[in-house]
Amino acid sequence: MIIGFIGAGKVGCTLAKYFSICGMQISGFYSQTYEHAKEASDFTQSQHYTSLPELVNDSDCILVTVPDGQIVTVWQELCQLSIANKWIGHCSGLLTSHIFSQHKVVHPFAFSLHPLYAIYDRFSCYMAMSGISFTLEANENIIP
Ligand SMILES: NC(=O)c1ccc[n+]([C@@H]2O[C@H](COP(=O)([O-])OP(=O)(O)OC[C@H]3O[C@@H](n4cnc5c(N)ncnc54)[C@H](OP(=O)(O)O)[C@@H]3O)[C@@H](O)[C@H]2O)c1
Repeated sequence: MIIGFIGAGKVGCTLAKYFSICGMQISGFYSQTYEHAKEASDFTQSQHYTSLPELVNDSDCILVTVPDGQIVTVWQELCQLSIANKWIGHCSGLLTSHIFSQHKVVHPFAFSLHPLYAIYDRFSCYMAMSGISFTLEANENIIP
């Protein structure tokens, strides 16, 4: 599974680096600020995208690691793209996967994955990730 990140901040950089160390494939980053996406992609040896459709096209799973208040804005953009078979997640501990709904129907592969850790830095916190717990919330039919 190839994972793409929208939001090259503290959580995006940390999880992408950690997942990549764990052997998972990362497509890369799309973010609000081009330089931040570039830094994050350099840090994780992945790509930086200036086009959201291209990131979506290159990814099986899209992790929306933007601030909580921006998740619905990004979701509205994602809804315009080909995401029917993609996993779509966010990392907020305040919101559920139901934020990824259209016409009151939750996206079938929506989830929330919340690291129980104060991620205070983009480039060093990945070292702590192997010792922390995550909460995972999604439709019960898709959690193994
Ligand atoms: N930090 C923590 O301790 C922690 C722990 C668990 C969960 N979380 C959750 O993780 C998520 C991200 O938090 P964070 O601490 O990583 O935030 P952050 O460091 O502020 O990073 C957010 C990133 O999202 C980008 N962004 C903002 N609006 C965007 C938009 N409309 N489109 C594309 N990119 C956008 C920002 O852009 P640029 O930098 O490119 O300008 C920034 O890189 C939140 O849901 C938060 O609740 C955080």
